[in-house]
Amino acid sequence: MKSYEKLLLENKAWASEKLSINKDYFNELAKNEQPEFLWIGCSDSRVPALEVTNSEPGEMFVHRNVANIVVNTDVNLMSVLQYALEVLRVKHVIVCGHYGCGAIKAAITKDSYGLIDAWLKNIKDVYRIYREELDIIPDLEQKQERLVELNVKEQVLNLAKGRIVQRAWASSEKYPVLHGWVYDINTGILNDIIKIEPEDYKDELYRFDEKSFKKNIKSNG
Ligand code: CO
Repeated sequence: MKSYEKLLLENKAWASEKLSINKDYFNELAKNEQPEFLWIGCSDSRVPALEVTNSEPGEMFVHRNVANIVVNTDVNLMSVLQYALEVLRVKHVIVCGHYGCGAIKAAITKDSYGLIDAWLKNIKDVYRIYREELDIIPDLEQKQERLVELNVKEQVLNLAKGRIVQRAWASSEKYPVLHGWVYDINTGILNDIIKIEPEDYKDELYRFDEKSFKKNIKSNG
């Protein structure tokens, strides 16, 4: 049997197992989704969002890219974020990195890999911000692990600074809470790196102002 054929076969076994426990399992799931969490994680095959959090289908909206990067011109991620906050109304957004991340390792080197270099530049930008701290770590593995943590922190801040989260925070609901976690592929444990509640965020520079937004949109026709 070919490897992909096994996937289709396993799928049938999985579906019938779910039905044997609850005959309405898929009928209930098909009605709608109301996940409480948005997960922004690395594409790495060893960090599956649902499995490592023991979550079930329907409990988590998921976006994954190489090195869990948040770029506010990424139409894909921004569409996921907008839909998650404005339609699904998720309460928590989790950015999850992981130790041993290949992209983080690559970003520290001077090597070129083609198209992905442009994406890795986002990680190099994080390195630049924390250069003083990172340059003096003599052990390469420790340096990589610290950059994994700092990258998660910066991507959470990118979410916080962005218009979609700022607009959600400006509304009366006071959601979402932002979380930065790092998954340890050696232990299977998630480490809590940073948490930002709406009221924790004090930087007025990025504040979304609904009143001026409406006024300016109107005056621009
Ligand atoms: Co990775």
